[in-house]
Amino acid sequence: MTFDLIVIGSGPGGYVCAIRAAQLGLKTAVVEKEKTFGGTCLNVGCIPSKALLHASEMFHQAGHDFAHLGIKVTPELDLPAMLKHKDDTVTANVNGVGFLFKKNKIDAYQGVGKILGAGKVEVAGADGKTQQLEAKNIVIATGSSVAPLPGVTIDEKRVVSSTGAIALPQVPKKLLVVGAGVIGLELGSVWARLGAEVTVVEFLDKILPTNDEEVAKQFQRLLQKQGFTFHLGHKVTKVDASDAGCKVTIEPAKGGAAKVLDADIVLVAIGRRPNTDGLGLEAAGIATDRGRVVIDDHFATNVKGVYAIGDVVRGPMLAHKAEDEGIAIAEQLAGKAGHVNYEVIPAVVYTQPEIASIGKTEEELKAAGVAYNIGKFPFTANGRARANRATDGFVKILADAKTDRVLGAHILGAGAGEMIHELVVLMEFAGSSEDLARSTHAHPTMSEAVREAALAVEKRAIHM
Ligand code: FAD
Ligand code: NAI
Repeated sequence: MTFDLIVIGSGPGGYVCAIRAAQLGLKTAVVEKEKTFGGTCLNVGCIPSKALLHASEMFHQAGHDFAHLGIKVTPELDLPAMLKHKDDTVTANVNGVGFLFKKNKIDAYQGVGKILGAGKVEVAGADGKTQQLEAKNIVIATGSSVAPLPGVTIDEKRVVSSTGAIALPQVPKKLLVVGAGVIGLELGSVWARLGAEVTVVEFLDKILPTNDEEVAKQFQRLLQKQGFTFHLGHKVTKVDASDAGCKVTIEPAKGGAAKVLDADIVLVAIGRRPNTDGLGLEAAGIATDRGRVVIDDHFATNVKGVYAIGDVVRGPMLAHKAEDEGIAIAEQLAGKAGHVNYEVIPAVVYTQPEIASIGKTEEELKAAGVAYNIGKFPFTANGRARANRATDGFVKILADAKTDRVLGAHILGAGAGEMIHELVVLMEFAGSSEDLARSTHAHPTMSEAVREAALAVEKRAIHM
């Protein structure tokens, strides 16, 4: 079979790329090695984790917050039903991708894809049979997998990755999380809300190391109030797992005495690494750098007609970044001018409260020697936040001291992941804090805190 485009991998990068290419009239095929489409994000990542984050938050609120609102309930956990809600959500989403492939007349092949050279892909099915496909262009969108912790075996029962952690058959009494990154804090939150004692061991001396430090520090205090225990500046050196539980040896990262902690379940969440094994990159002469496929500014690898997008290439490992790259390369291959603005990619941690950020952190601006003004506004001073009992957190806007152009924004607060988008649009249009400060915001909304933070850049917030 000959195509205009073969996409290897059907995650957010691959499936979105295929749909956009088909919309633009390219004869498109997708090769996916798993039984379902949608990749990490839809099957074991974004979607199931958010289904559990929502359900566990509802459970927690029913037990802890409803009484303050005059609602008396004693919630009882039905974990199998909660896991079914998650599984049903995944099924609906992955089936949705299959439907979109059919609707857009995309040919889907199930099997492991291997690049034999420019324009040639071999698909090896589960039955051992192989077939060869040809195309003018190939897009590698094979995503990433969990990074292993040296010396620790992930059995997905006692010692789990995120995949095991979204399917635990019972609430662990003690959950030990290795890595205070996004996965550790999101999935740690799920099980903490359902009753687990959560301990987090983090190599660095701070949580969420790429976030704005002020936000991360306040967030750490809030998580501690929620019952989290942190061992920062520590590394896990050994996990002895048995049916009785796990003995976890931790040591200070800078050297010192080891301690042994008990846990029922250990979650390893120390990052992810690109999927390139078995893709035939070396034989095809496609360059990689520390496992990631090397691309130029137009997603092209060093082999003509072979492109790569998503988690398998440089940049943040985020579904929306992969999707936007998928759209951009499809548009380029159809003769249009697709592009991704990497300066304006939001990132959200879906905990309670949420953390949403875009653009530069204060630390990055300082390091780059850029003069900036800060506008900050706390949710305690926002009427809707008080009405909703959601006063934790604040909005922080960083604007260029000379031009007032917004360079970064960081929101810690309930619903931050929705609120950040007005800053996405503002920054995409190179807007200033003054533009935001002059935009009417509906009252009473949490988003008024965003406008107040913009007003605070020039010290004229009204409610503070
Ligand atoms: P993937 O989604 O990993 O898809 C790659 C696909 O390629 C897979 O289906 C794989 O089976 C297939 N494949 C690999 N090799 C081959 C081969 N040789 N042949 C055929 N098929 C192959 N990001 C967010 O933005 N928001 C979130 O809330 C979020 N939550 C997450 C929660 C968890 C627990 C995890 C683990 C990740 C989360 N992410 C989130 C990250 C997000 O899942 C990834 O950034 C995103 O899935 C990357 O998309 P992708 O298309 O590059 O790769
Ligand atoms: P991460 O990179 O976010 O965090 C890993 C953490 O582990 C870091 O704080 C790091 O310092 C620490 N660490 C590394 N080695 C360690 C060690 N040996 N001992 C102790 N700590 C160690 O990685 P995570 O949480 O695994 O997530 C992987 C990717 O998935 C992220 O890049 C993220 O972008 C994506 N993701 C995004 C989500 C979202 O957008 N809401 C949700 C979940 C995942």
